[in-house]
Amino acid sequence: MIRSLFKSKTRNRIQERCQEDSLTRLRKKYDILYHIIENQQGTRVTVDGKQLVMFSSNEYLGLHDHPKVIEAGKKALDQWGSGTMGSRAANGGRYFHHQLEERLADFLGKEACHVSAAGYLSLMSSITGFAQRGDVVLVDKNMHSSVWDGTQLSMASVERFSHNNPDHLRALLDNLDPEVAKIIAIEGIYSMEGHIGKLPEFVDIAQQYQCFLVMDDAHGLGVLGENGRGTANHFGLTEKVDVISGSLSKSLASTGGYVAGDRSMIDYLRTHSKQTIFSAAISPSQAACAMAALDILESEPEWLERLWSNTKRYKALLDELNLNTWESESPAIPIVLGSRERAYYFWKRLWDKNVFTILSTPPAVPPGKDLIRTSVSAKHSDEDFEIFEEAIRYAASKL
Ligand SMILES: Cc1ncc(COP(=O)(O)O)c(C=O)c1O
Repeated sequence: MIRSLFKSKTRNRIQERCQEDSLTRLRKKYDILYHIIENQQGTRVTVDGKQLVMFSSNEYLGLHDHPKVIEAGKKALDQWGSGTMGSRAANGGRYFHHQLEERLADFLGKEACHVSAAGYLSLMSSITGFAQRGDVVLVDKNMHSSVWDGTQLSMASVERFSHNNPDHLRALLDNLDPEVAKIIAIEGIYSMEGHIGKLPEFVDIAQQYQCFLVMDDAHGLGVLGENGRGTANHFGLTEKVDVISGSLSKSLASTGGYVAGDRSMIDYLRTHSKQTIFSAAISPSQAACAMAALDILESEPEWLERLWSNTKRYKALLDELNLNTWESESPAIPIVLGSRERAYYFWKRLWDKNVFTILSTPPAVPPGKDLIRTSVSAKHSDEDFEIFEEAIRYAASKL
């Protein structure tokens, strides 16, 4: 009796917590808890019967409906069926995992690679797989949540340094015990801000202070470097980054994640990464789609060229309108509005004019940086740009 009373009390408490949460209430109020896309054709999506142009996908190269990607996915389904029904360490390992890992490692210029069913899992394991209690993980304060979770799980101590700020990192390191193992975590391209990580400076610091350098290149792969090999390749510093990890869900138009580095480290991950030992392996079709996208990156460089010429065109328009793009240097381009209300109405006006963007408010972004997250794709056509231009001019005129 007492037990069930306590249980219902706890239930009520949790229910209250859920009902009173301000973020959930706000998103419900604005009717944007989740957008349900009913149909997608290239850059066009339909929501509630309304057709919009997608200007906030992470699909920078626009490969999700590329005939070679579709064909590869279908073929894999025919050959292997739908799922893997187990983890790599148990019954889920297949030959195509091995093929994808070898291909990715080669593409990234690393000895070996480990893939998992989600970028989030890979990013977590890129920290928790290597750091342990007693170590210090130094994390850019704007890092993706997956890295923070990995850091917490590792039981290492954490130091946050100012966003993309090598001087602050250096100052923190000056105060740490030189004997303690230190891991620096940065991103190649920061997805909310569009900033390119200052890799050359961070590499210098990692060498000077003998730190292990981990880079989340979820948004750099397919966007920077030769044929989209990523941020490390862009700077010619692949060998100096100990671990490059990322997602297959952005430019590679699939789902899944990877961690790449020296073979000994990747072998160690295979036996220590709980994120993969206790989670089912990436499905046949998703692995095949990612592999086909990698082939396209190498054989059809025009997608990358289109991405950057579209990005230039897009950025010029936002600059002309004096919009605050947080000095983005990449196809991930925020429009910073500074308050929840301004961001919401800006987002809504774009929506009303048939442009799909993402409203981002704290805690997804730092306080006062409420923004609309937008991004450019190689697939955007002149017609898409015309629709966008009309919408953004309208939204900007109402600011
Ligand atoms: C920087 C960064 N890292 C990791 C992830 C996680 O990737 P995935 O969506 O494949 O789980 C994301 C995706 O939002 C990301 O933006």
